Amino acid sequence: MAQGGFLFLVPSLVLVVVGKIHDSPSVVIAVIARNSAHALPYSLGALERLNYPKERVSVWCATDHNEDKTLEVLQDWLEAVRPLYHSVVLKVQVSPRWYPEETGPKHWPKERYEHVMKLRQEAVNFAMEKNFDYILYVDADNILTNVQTLQLLMATNRTIVAPMMDSQTAFSNFWCGITPQGFYRRTPDYFPTRNRQRTGCFPVPMVHSTFLINLQKEEIQRLVFYPPHPNYTWTFDDIIVFAYACKAAGVQSYVCNTHHFGYANIPPQPHQDLQDDEMNFVHLMLESMVDGFPFRSSQFVYPAPKNPDKMGLDEIFLINLPRRPERRERMLRSLYEQEILCRVIDAVDGRDLNSSDIKRLGVNLLPGYYDPFSGRTLTKGEVGCFLSHFKIWTEITERQIDVALVFEDDVRFEPFFKRKIIRLMEDIRSADLDYDLIYIGRKQVTLDPEQPVDNVRNLVVADYSYWTLCYIISLRGAQKLLNAEPLSKILPVDEFLPIMSDTHPNDDYKHHFVNRNLQIFSAHPLLVYPTHYTGEPSWQSDTETSTLWDDDNVKTDWSGSQKTLKDTRGESYPSLQSMSHDEL
Ligand SMILES: *[C@@H]1O[C@H](CO)[C@@H](O)[C@H](O)[C@H]1NC(C)=O
Ligand SMILES: *[C@@H]1O[C@H](CO)[C@@H](O)[C@H](O)[C@H]1NC(C)=O
Ligand SMILES: *[C@@H]1O[C@H](CO)[C@@H](O)[C@H](O)[C@H]1NC(C)=O
Repeated sequence: MAQGGFLFLVPSLVLVVVGKIHDSPSVVIAVIARNSAHALPYSLGALERLNYPKERVSVWCATDHNEDKTLEVLQDWLEAVRPLYHSVVLKVQVSPRWYPEETGPKHWPKERYEHVMKLRQEAVNFAMEKNFDYILYVDADNILTNVQTLQLLMATNRTIVAPMMDSQTAFSNFWCGITPQGFYRRTPDYFPTRNRQRTGCFPVPMVHSTFLINLQKEEIQRLVFYPPHPNYTWTFDDIIVFAYACKAAGVQSYVCNTHHFGYANIPPQPHQDLQDDEMNFVHLMLESMVDGFPFRSSQFVYPAPKNPDKMGLDEIFLINLPRRPERRERMLRSLYEQEILCRVIDAVDGRDLNSSDIKRLGVNLLPGYYDPFSGRTLTKGEVGCFLSHFKIWTEITERQIDVALVFEDDVRFEPFFKRKIIRLMEDIRSADLDYDLIYIGRKQVTLDPEQPVDNVRNLVVADYSYWTLCYIISLRGAQKLLNAEPLSKILPVDEFLPIMSDTHPNDDYKHHFVNRNLQIFSAHPLLVYPTHYTGEPSWQSDTETSTLWDDDNVKTDWSGSQKTLKDTRGESYPSLQSMSHDEL
């Protein structure tokens, strides 16, 4: 009523607003969801946040054959957002809950392809009958983190245009090539596009999952999702059928990688179940956080609560500098999403240590220590880092913790991290392996093959290694490290460990430590990597760029040593080709 009064009093102002609304083209957003309850709170949350007038948008959803809560999530969400949008539509088929021929909840038998084609056709029919200007298809596990996506795609003035979606692997929502038989063909354009070495909007023979169709274009009249073109003989797959239909209708599709638009979860492998799919999705979330585009849940529907535990270990520590809250937050959320419970340990801040503190703590430099690559001596950051790990080893012995895992706060997780740790520890227990420390993430210094461990999958005897990114340590291991009294002859903690296992090449350092019998192993392949490497734009190290340890006035403006520069995965990380997600 108040608004009515307002309209009467200041009609010109209101007219301006109304005029503005009509400037935005009308859009149908079509979501076809099946067994996606874990992803929907995020994909719907992203739709909610699109910076586009909702009164110009109609949401068209369809769902069927669900074993999970997909229908309930969609219903709750649509009920809540109904007043915000121009209109909402939900097409529901409650039963059956699966297809007779399917091998799992994410498997697509022929019927499924056909059903999806029909639904896509139904959505576009709805949009065309109601004279909408555009239709945006979004898969239920595609997260449009870029709130400007609609405007950016519309501005291309293309008939069919897909925002390039990032994923955990080489996968994306376009093909650059298609064989004469209608199969995927990798062309030289694919990786440069996928990796954004070339950017723009490129004509491609296939887009899928998330794409916008401009219904105002004349040529759209000739385009059909269903039924397949009469001459169609290729594999019966909805995306290939559509690619063929576009070709037959003479409509060119485009993919744009000019911006970061969002993420698409990799499609499940035939043998994977819903839980695997969900874990892939969790991994995608973790990757998006590393990239700086975290997923945000809908305001109206929420992800199911997680139940974090210690993965069967006795304690899990996370070392974090209190002045790096953004790292702590990312790690805490990453661990929570993986259902891992941890105890945060405030790192000793090397920056706050002055020479008298260092004396008081009994810290003394190892005689003759210098970095072999840069010729530098120890930094305050390295002293702080050592003291932080030392603090944890002390807690382990005081609390008599049998097995602990230690994380630093710049860790990037491999897929299925938790499952792999649990399996590794089960193997270790049944093999009755005697160990002090197990690297979960490290830099292998020598590239020689390392000795595998009998009866324990994916474990090797660790040769000379750097980094203390993530490791498992036993009570005995912590005791051995403390017994060596390292503070009185300190050097970087990641040099100390190889000395203690007698794999360090420098005999001068080694002779200061008598009992060098630490049993060190390493996960192989590794289960974590650093989030960033030296030299990358977002690289920031607290150990390698702080002032000299014993002189408060000298700044080392030194930007990284060979130690961090040359990673063993080198150029190939985070190479998309080498990442596998189905090792389990
Ligand atoms: C958009 O494309 C159409 C052809 O489909 C063309 O006629 C029109 O001029 C283009 N509009 C702009 C603003 O470039
Ligand atoms: C289907 O193929 C036949 C022969 O190969 C051709 O003559 C016909 O034009 C095609 N139909 C369409 C609709 O493209
Ligand atoms: C070093 O810092 C401590 C507080 O952490 C302070 O009490 C002490 O006076 C400082 N010493 C010097 C030499 O600045």
